[in-house]
Amino acid sequence: MRILESAPERYDFGIRLLSLGRINSVYGRVSQLARGPDTLDLGCGTGNLARRLAARGHRVTGVDLSPEMLDVARLKAPPGAALNWVQAGAVELVDCFPPASFDTIASVLMFSELSPAERAETLRQCHRLLRAGGQLLIADEVRAGTFGRRALQTMLRAPLAAITYALTQTSTHAVRGLEEEIAAAGFSLLRRESNRLGDFTLLEAERKEARDGVGA
Ligand SMILES: C[S@@+](CC[C@H](N)C(=O)[O-])C[C@H]1O[C@@H](n2cnc3c(N)ncnc32)[C@H](O)[C@@H]1O
Repeated sequence: MRILESAPERYDFGIRLLSLGRINSVYGRVSQLARGPDTLDLGCGTGNLARRLAARGHRVTGVDLSPEMLDVARLKAPPGAALNWVQAGAVELVDCFPPASFDTIASVLMFSELSPAERAETLRQCHRLLRAGGQLLIADEVRAGTFGRRALQTMLRAPLAAITYALTQTSTHAVRGLEEEIAAAGFSLLRRESNRLGDFTLLEAERKEARDGVGA
């Protein structure tokens, strides 16, 4: 994805192309499930999900590491919408917001850009920022479950990975063990919706109360 993020003004076109138009239904499904009203869009990019959430009545804070992506998000925000933008890294959330600030934290295609250690820390901070019973929604690329599907996933991803690497010397990676990481951070998994290949998943989880220091 980094090739797209290096040109934020072309990101929306690129992500629609790469997802074969399916990204809009992902934003639609996440915004349909999101309870709010106080909602954090983590790794909000150009604000596509955040705008949909605001249109449904949520008070939305979009957080992203990239000032350039946030500039595009600000430009695309309808005047008067309940949208607030914060430039921060996913592991700095607790420095930006007090505990129990949000009812819902949603994140699309960001966790696949984090290292395992960053994912664990980000999930721990999400737990801290959610209110009791708060909702976590993550939609991202994951490693397909069976050997056959993983082989197919590798084959389908290979051309894109090659082009991305040739142009940027970076690569994307599907997340492995995301459900286990979510559980380890103190959440109960409520829902899993996957595509046919099993390489893209939407997970809904709920904040469990801290116990024995887990997720505290
Ligand atoms: C593939 S884009 C997805 C953007 C948006 N969520 C969407 O679905 O269109 C990944 C986004 O995550 C942001 N990002 C990557 N690492 C991050 C981090 N550690 N903290 C916050 N944002 C991060 C990038 O700047 C980028 O905007």
